[in-house]
Amino acid sequence: MINDIDQIIKEMQDFASDRSEEFKLKFLSKKGKIQELFDEFRNVRPEEKKELGQRLNALKNMAQARFAELQAKEQQFFTASKIEDMTRDVATDSIGSIHPLTLVRREICDIFSRIGFTVAEGPEIEDDWHLFSALNFPPEHPARDMQDTFFVEKDVALRTHTSSVQIRCLEKESVPVRKIFPGRVFRNEAISARAHCMFHQVEGLYVDKNVSFKDLKQVLLYFAEEMFGPDTKIRLRPSYFPFTEPSAEMDVTCSICGGKGCNICKNSGWVEILGCGMVDPNVLKNCNIDPSIYSGYAFGMGIERISMLKYNTNDIRLYFDNDVRFLSQFKNA
Ligand code: DAH
Repeated sequence: MINDIDQIIKEMQDFASDRSEEFKLKFLSKKGKIQELFDEFRNVRPEEKKELGQRLNALKNMAQARFAELQAKEQQFFTASKIEDMTRDVATDSIGSIHPLTLVRREICDIFSRIGFTVAEGPEIEDDWHLFSALNFPPEHPARDMQDTFFVEKDVALRTHTSSVQIRCLEKESVPVRKIFPGRVFRNEAISARAHCMFHQVEGLYVDKNVSFKDLKQVLLYFAEEMFGPDTKIRLRPSYFPFTEPSAEMDVTCSICGGKGCNICKNSGWVEILGCGMVDPNVLKNCNIDPSIYSGYAFGMGIERISMLKYNTNDIRLYFDNDVRFLSQFKNA
């Protein structure tokens, strides 16, 4: 053991690095060389203990002195180079969070993918045919008006809804189709707490033989329960859209008050979340699909609206301001 002690003394003298931590690791840590000798010391014969013990302690003191010396040198260096505190944590930028609209879009896509829907996308700049005409909008419909739609040039506009992707899909794919189309839409609206000139929608489309309204209702009930919880109820109110017949709007029981009535649901207990209906035979014809053989349903919902309900937010502008105080609340969502 005496040889070992001498060997370590030599290694300490030859130790080339200036870094105190490296020195500590090699000689003074729990797995370091000196501790190894202390471990062996337990097995040393009693008559040798005294001398070896003293030598070991001296060795340890030597190592500690050398360590302190290295530390002092480092400190001097940091002071001289005006580095204040090398042990301070690095100033890491906090990690961002996923935008709530992305979270909700992903959740919607997940829910529908579990029942056989695949996801597709279409262009944000659309022609009149895909945006209006093929969807059975009459020529004088107000959506074709500059007041509601941002036109890029004559008959070309920023899409006002994702229903245009229905047409692109039906023109291109053979039926049956079962798809959802998430995307950004634009409307010429004054920005307020309830409306924005840009928002997001998810459109759904299923066309096959023998598709009926009850299939639509069942799928929408499934969606509502998955999105807002198993106790959620739905109700369908008759409505009108040019591209569906019959058409409906769907309400869900208010997830904020559980249907009892609050200011989010205007005390009715219900909130509207989407439009839907059976694809109008004219739309199928416009895409060269025979409506006497095929039928289908479609639905469209606003992602902001679903998110506002889900996260109880009352101002749509929050989704576009990118204020980190708002966004960081979705870190663990
Ligand atoms: N496109 C409609 C809108 O933007 C939403 C919609 C309603 C889509 C009914 C549909 C539907 O597919 O069947 O307000």
